[in-house]
Amino acid sequence: MIQACIFDLDGVLVDTVGLHFESWQKLASSLGYELPLHLKNKFRGASRMKSLGYILDEFSIHANENDKAKFCHLKNKWYQESLANINEDIMLEGAKSLLLELSKSNIKVALASASKNAKLIIKKLKLDNLFDAMVDANDVTLTKPNPEVFLSAAKKINCKPSDCIVFEDSPLGVTAAQAGGFKSIGIGEEIDISTVDSHFHSLEGISWSDLARHFEK
Ligand code: BG6
Ligand code: MG
Repeated sequence: MIQACIFDLDGVLVDTVGLHFESWQKLASSLGYELPLHLKNKFRGASRMKSLGYILDEFSIHANENDKAKFCHLKNKWYQESLANINEDIMLEGAKSLLLELSKSNIKVALASASKNAKLIIKKLKLDNLFDAMVDANDVTLTKPNPEVFLSAAKKINCKPSDCIVFEDSPLGVTAAQAGGFKSIGIGEEIDISTVDSHFHSLEGISWSDLARHFEK
């Protein structure tokens, strides 16, 4: 029986995919490059270092560990600057209402994000009270597609993976959810619908009662 919903953050609850891309774009420009648009979706779900790796590969840039750390630091500085004035407007359609409905329905809710900024964003949006547990990249050693972040979230809320629905917008996240034995809902256009239990364009219009019916049939 479904007992919990576990949400990815970027691209599922908040509209930050563009902000990540723009921050990487600033880094690329500072090095004299222009990022191709296809990387925007490739960054979804990818850790900061993995994302940097895509950029270095794209332009065949050789960087040592010090340079990589410096590049990640700069990107994060710009990303955090872009988060400075965010408010509820950054939430994706349907996110707030689903979170509110779940909290009223006795369904546990957890966050499982590959971002080290996830808790900062949740705090800024004053959404802490809608989550029973939050796990982000600061809390795990392995990143998506490894299931560690989802398994850790499930553990924190005392639920078996098979009793949890994971909401993801990235193929890396879907792979992680599947590897961990979770039910999965793909959100948005980057998901191969054959890889998830269910797919929606956004959270808009998704209600807990529909989900319960769908997964418990
Ligand atoms: C994921 C995003 O949630 O977090 C990725 O989808 C991002 O695009 C990753 O690279 C890491 O984020 P951060 O904030 O730790 O650099
Ligand atoms: Mg995401």
